[in-house]
Parts: sequence; C-alpha cells; structure tokens
Amino acid sequence: MLALAVAPLVAQGVIARRRRVVALAGKLGTDDRGVGLLQQLNETYGPGPLRLRIPGRSVAVPLVADDVRRVLDGAPEPFSPANREKRGALRHFQPHGVLVSRGAARADRRRFNEAVLDTGRPLHRYADAITRVVREESRHLRADVDADGVLTWDTFITAWWRVVRRVVLGDGARDDHRLTDQLTALRRTANWSALVPRSGARHARLRNRLRTHLDRAEPGSLAAMIATVPATPETDAVDQVPQWLFAFDPAGAVALRALALLAAHPNETARVRADLDGRDLDTPQDLPRLRAAVLESVRLWPTTPLLLRDTTAPTDWNGAALPAGTAVLIATSYFHRDDRSRPDADRFDPDQWLDGRAAGDWSLVPFSAGPASCPGRELVLFTTSTMLAALLEHHTHTVLPPTKLDPAHPLPRGLDPFAVRLAVTPTSPPQVPGD
Ligand code: HEM
Repeated sequence: MLALAVAPLVAQGVIARRRRVVALAGKLGTDDRGVGLLQQLNETYGPGPLRLRIPGRSVAVPLVADDVRRVLDGAPEPFSPANREKRGALRHFQPHGVLVSRGAARADRRRFNEAVLDTGRPLHRYADAITRVVREESRHLRADVDADGVLTWDTFITAWWRVVRRVVLGDGARDDHRLTDQLTALRRTANWSALVPRSGARHARLRNRLRTHLDRAEPGSLAAMIATVPATPETDAVDQVPQWLFAFDPAGAVALRALALLAAHPNETARVRADLDGRDLDTPQDLPRLRAAVLESVRLWPTTPLLLRDTTAPTDWNGAALPAGTAVLIATSYFHRDDRSRPDADRFDPDQWLDGRAAGDWSLVPFSAGPASCPGRELVLFTTSTMLAALLEHHTHTVLPPTKLDPAHPLPRGLDPFAVRLAVTPTSPPQVPGD
C-alpha cells in the first residue's frame, strides 16, 4: 500500500517531469489516491514512521509533523540530504552540488550558495537587474500572447527560461536554448538515477558551456556574484549552477499555476491589484500578496513531492530502532493536503502565509526547512512575484478547459501545468509617458 502511494510520484519524474505521465496521473487521479492511502496507513498503524521493506534498503516514511521537524532539523547529521538515490540521480549533472555533498564540502558549498543567492533577503542584491529582465521578458511574452489572446504552457515556459538564463548567466545566455536542452537531457537521464551509466562527456559539455557564460560575469547576473564570492578548491562553483537552473525550471510551473489560481479566485485578484496599485513596478518591490499566491501554488502542488534523507547513525523512534543508512522519505503532498488536520487543505488560502499561521508549521514544507532548506527561496519568490505583477498589469486572465479550478469545490490534488491555458484580455491600455 505504501509503495502504491509513492510509485506514481516517482513515475512522474522526480528530476525532470515526464509530460505524458503527468497527464496520465491527472486522468487517473493518482496524486489524489496517494494522499488518501497515506492517511489510511496513518489511521491503521498510528503515527509511524512507517517501514517499507525493500530488499537491501531500509525505508521509513514519517506521518506526523513532529517527525518532519526532527528529520529536517537534523540535517546534515544524522539525517543527511545526500541520500543514496538522490546522489545516483544528481551525479549525472551536478556530482559536486551542495545537495549531494557531505561533511566539510557540504558546509563550504552551502556557504557559497547562500552568499550568491542572498539567502533570507526578500530583495536580492541584484534585484534591480532581475526586475528589468523580468519586465522586459514579460512584455515580449504579452506581445506573443496578444496575437491570439491565449497564454499556454509552451509560450510561458519559453519566456520563463529566457528570464532564468539571463538572471543566472547574463543577457548573453538569453537565447542559449541549447544549454537548457542539454540540461534537460541530463535531467531525463537522472530520472533513472543509478540505473543508467553516467556520461562524463555529456556532463563535461554542459560544464564547458556554463563556464563560457560564467566567464563573462555579466553585471547584475548571478555569474557576477559568483565572481565576487570567495571559493575554495572544494567549492566547485560551476557545479553549483545546474541546481539553480534545474530548480528555476519547476518554478515556471509554480508561477503559471499561481496565475491560474488567481484567475479562478477574483476576490483574491482584487486584493492583489489593490496591493499593486500605486507601486512603481519598474523598481524592485517586495510583493507579499503575490508571494503568498506563489507559496499557495507550491503548497497545493509541490514541485519536490518527496524530500529524501539517509540516516548516518542508528535512530530511535519511541523505542523502535532504525539502522544507519535508512532512507527517510517525506511525502510533501500528504502533509500539505491533509484535510483531517487542515480545514484549508484543498482550497486557496494565501492569507495563511501573511497572518503567521504557516510560519513554523512543520507540515508546510514546499521549500523544505531546517539547515538544508532551499537557499533560493527568497530569490525565486521575488522573481516569480515580479513576473506575475508584470503579467497582471492591464490584463485579466480566465482559466480555459481542460483545467478546472472551481473555488466552490476542493482543488484537485494534481494540476498538469503542461495543459494550462489562460484567456488573456487587456483591461486598459498601458500608460505611455508623455500621453
Ligand atoms: C519554486 C521553486 C523552488 C522550490 C519549490 C524549491 C524547493 C527546494 C527544496 C524542497 C529543497 C530541498 C530538497 C531536498 O532536501 O531534497 C531545495 C534545495 C535547494 N534549492 Fe530550491 N527550490 C526552488 C527554487 C530554487 C532556486 C531558484 C534555486 C537557486 C537559484 C534553488 C536552490 C536550491 C539549492 C542550492 C538547494 C540545496 C540546498 C542544500 O542542500 O543545502 N532552489 N529547494
């Protein structure tokens, strides 16, 4: 039963989403069933963690928020983020990434990541440049959409990747679609983790291409930050970058789903518009209501469905011992969508991120939590909220079939981003200076 809850998450692609399987999962309602199965297991066997017996591997699945806290707060020892399956997957494109590092190397790479990503600061040091890039690309995107009035995944993600490449690597990388394709190909291989041999040559090609962009150190890009942050021989700065590009990719799906959520919830959109009113959006802005919409999008449809840890020492769970080397698997949707404990589990509730309810709640972990939590959280919330603000300006959106988001009904537990289509209608002409 436990395997039934977990297998569909793996099948949809843990490292790169498989478009056809995601669509199939939506039709079959597997995300819906996964949450229900874990709830049933919790009711039958109590607080857990549940043990899954796979030959050669001890696996445990926490079922209560206190255990989530223990595991995530206990990084990197005794709950190491450098889990065996994750190492198997990420070695294809970032063998020295912080996420799969241990000991002194992890500490050094974490320091480096936090410095470049400006962890914890709502407005990144290069917020001016990021705002300019996002607004330029949003204007191009809108021009593409205006032709037929429908915003689709393909149009959106093309624009989003331009933003990502410019923010991370500089304007010179704007149209380097080939780089994104190379990374995507390696991520697809990574879905198969250790089952597929690693291609050193493909990884070397990716590194060389990245290095060419990084060497320019374009002002305002993360590449420029890299050039200023001290690195040690251990850091391997180039190998940290694939994780940033890789993590910015699903953020596109998060942003598009947030736009769809807003389109389906006109009252919240009115509050967002009131908050935007009178702001100069050409200058960097902390946009709490839009950030909350993005946080809801990633709570409702988490882009990291499984948080994986490996224990580095024996651990005790109310008298039950788990051996060192146990894989601990936190199924985020189960916690985010547990309608037994959360009255708002299946509805859009951005207020919880604004009124303090979500703060310190260990069952809401879309960006993980604790010492190995996402160091790019603020950067990505800033980038996505700035993009949404640009798209909402002078335009309204309506969700088109096949996506159904009815505020009167529980929101679906899976939402295929590839199928999202939004009708876009201009509300008023943009103000041209001097008019
Ligand atoms: C919506 C977008 C994002 C979400 C939901 C997200 C979520 C997460 C989660 C859940 C983890 C922990 C993974 C684990 O423990 O297995 C993580 C780690 C990480 N994320 Fe993000 N992330 C996002 C975007 C970004 C971006 C844009 C960057 C960089 C530009 C970034 C950089 C990282 C890094 C470097 C780690 C590894 C941290 C460590 O191991 O210490 N993330 N992220």
